[in-house]
Amino acid sequence: MNNLLITGGCGFIGSNFIRYMLGREEFTGRIINVDSLTYAGNPESLADRVDAFADRYTFIRADICDGSQMAKIYDRHDVDAICHFAAESHVDRSIVSPDAFIQTNIVGTFNLLELARSHQDRLTLFHHVSTDEVFGSLGAEGYFTETTAYRPNSPYAASKAASDHLVRAYHKTYGLPITISNCSNNYGPYQFPEKLIPLMILNALEGKSLPVYGDGQNVRDWLYVTDHCDAVWKIMRDGQRGATYNIGGNTEKTNIEVVETICAILDEIAPDNDIGPRRDLIAFVTDRPGHDRRYAIDFAKLKQELGWSPAESFETGIRKTIQWYLDNMQWVQRVRSGEYQAWIKQHYG
Ligand code: NAD
Ligand code: DAU
Repeated sequence: MNNLLITGGCGFIGSNFIRYMLGREEFTGRIINVDSLTYAGNPESLADRVDAFADRYTFIRADICDGSQMAKIYDRHDVDAICHFAAESHVDRSIVSPDAFIQTNIVGTFNLLELARSHQDRLTLFHHVSTDEVFGSLGAEGYFTETTAYRPNSPYAASKAASDHLVRAYHKTYGLPITISNCSNNYGPYQFPEKLIPLMILNALEGKSLPVYGDGQNVRDWLYVTDHCDAVWKIMRDGQRGATYNIGGNTEKTNIEVVETICAILDEIAPDNDIGPRRDLIAFVTDRPGHDRRYAIDFAKLKQELGWSPAESFETGIRKTIQWYLDNMQWVQRVRSGEYQAWIKQHYG
């Protein structure tokens, strides 16, 4: 992998992955980060890497749905591997307006696959980053494995399921060298504050209401983002071509547990007499339509074949994450105020 195309590298996981890759001695190739900079894309998340890695890191603003622009980028940079993160990623937004999810997650992935197919002679890998939400919802027992049937429940999950099927089909039909990973909920630095954990941290810090959907008993399997990056890289390097791998944190928590933990840590490290105990800010609100009850991942295949396990526990990871948001209030403020978008407009039109 000399010229690795990363899509969606200005988003939460993509930017963490680029940081991770540029920090690995064993990876000496170039990274071409293609991102269209939707509301979730923020080049400022990688600002400190741009000069430090000027010879190995290139950012290009482009839409993966634009086939001709993507073809030019592909040729100009002699791409030989792809790691595909770009997506519309927020379930609530997919419920309100699914269109962009269909375009980016399905049509965009299809475009990339066609590009890869037409350059198959020099392609070493197409890695597709996907989600455990394709499997639908679990009851109180059991785990998602790589052979669990797909039963997506939200437009987001359905669009990711469609993209997984396309990627797999391009391997079966055209022999494209692919790998797919289906991961559970990530948390950590640079996550856009629409998702549960950063939203709750920032609202609690400011003494705002903490909206918990339904009864708060929905369960997610949390994984620190760097562990996800590590798993993706291991799969890209050593995973069987044509295979799917589940990635999970072995950390099942109800939403209310997560929110109460955040409240307790903030009361301890950032007490505020005007706000008082943060758990008093919790408000149970109308449930998300089609809200999946429980996710839990069995990652035995990844552990046995590639020796991966998460390094970070939830207890240490959530503290690190809260501290990161406290230490990076400028990033937060620019995201929350929309100033980052003004910067994008000024630099990229
Ligand atoms: P994100 O929303 O933070 O980032 C997505 C990035 O994709 C943004 O930078 C955005 O600008 C870019 N993008 C969107 N549409 C694009 C387009 N048409 N062309 C080019 N770029 C485009 O998402 P994330 O949380 O970092 O998720 C990244 C990937 O990981 C997604 O594929 C998601 O389905 C998957 N995933 C996420 C999680 C999670 O917990 N966040 C868990 C499992 C899998
Ligand atoms: O499981 C992997 C998926 O995790 C990824 O594929 C998605 O891209 C990612 O967004 C995430 O999806 P979720 O819907 O699980 O994440 P979210 O942070 O939106 O919500 C987590 C849980 O918290 C979910 O049960 C809904 C609940 N929630 C969320 C928000 C934003 C609340 O109770 N209140 C909220 O305000």
